[in-house]
Amino acid sequence: MVANSQGDSSVREVFPGTRRYTQHTIYELAETIRERDIVTYEHCRRVAIYANRLARHIGWHRRAARELALAGLIHDLGKTWVQNSVLHKPTPLSQDEWHQMQRHPAIAARILLTYDVSDELIEIVRHHHEAYDGSGYPDHLKGTAIPIGSRLLTVTDVFDALTSARSYKDPLPLHEVRERIERGAGATFDPEVVQAFLELLDTTPDFQLASRAVPAPLDQIPGWDRHDTIE
Ligand SMILES: [Fe+2]
Repeated sequence: MVANSQGDSSVREVFPGTRRYTQHTIYELAETIRERDIVTYEHCRRVAIYANRLARHIGWHRRAARELALAGLIHDLGKTWVQNSVLHKPTPLSQDEWHQMQRHPAIAARILLTYDVSDELIEIVRHHHEAYDGSGYPDHLKGTAIPIGSRLLTVTDVFDALTSARSYKDPLPLHEVRERIERGAGATFDPEVVQAFLELLDTTPDFQLASRAVPAPLDQIPGWDRHDTIE
């Protein structure tokens, strides 16, 4: 079973109001993503829900799963600083453009440092593109050196990227996405997280959320209030 490193012994236990403040801040930042790029916002919204479900599936406390969902909701915040010509390019990126794109997790972490959000949340966002074998970015972290929250986000992030349409690609069929994630165990992904995710996928009817042409307001996320919150 994947360990829960997102303990509850944070400043929020001492200052309970801080959690609500963090949520408000994250929702505002998610709104800036929505204003800039609806596709990225909707991707973040789905990843937040998937990550919350996965965290709960592996036994995380509701509060920790909720914090992970908040990280998921703004994990691509750094893309608001990537030029439109790169962000919306319908053809493969040049090496230079790819380097620009790869800066987005570090940019997001830098933006978040200016807000009153937890260090854990910032770290999760910064490392959501690290790979289990050390080939990811920005810090080439390897294995369990990657925060567990990031390891969970990576799987749900890729799942959503592969199952959604983009300007440059069609969505892949679910069985092919499942195979790709399974093949990535130990390379891109933490094998234990993959095992838990596939278990969840196989036992949850209609796991995949619909893509929307119109963004969903945050308080109308399907399932968010019933199963995906922590209050
Ligand atoms: Fe990303």
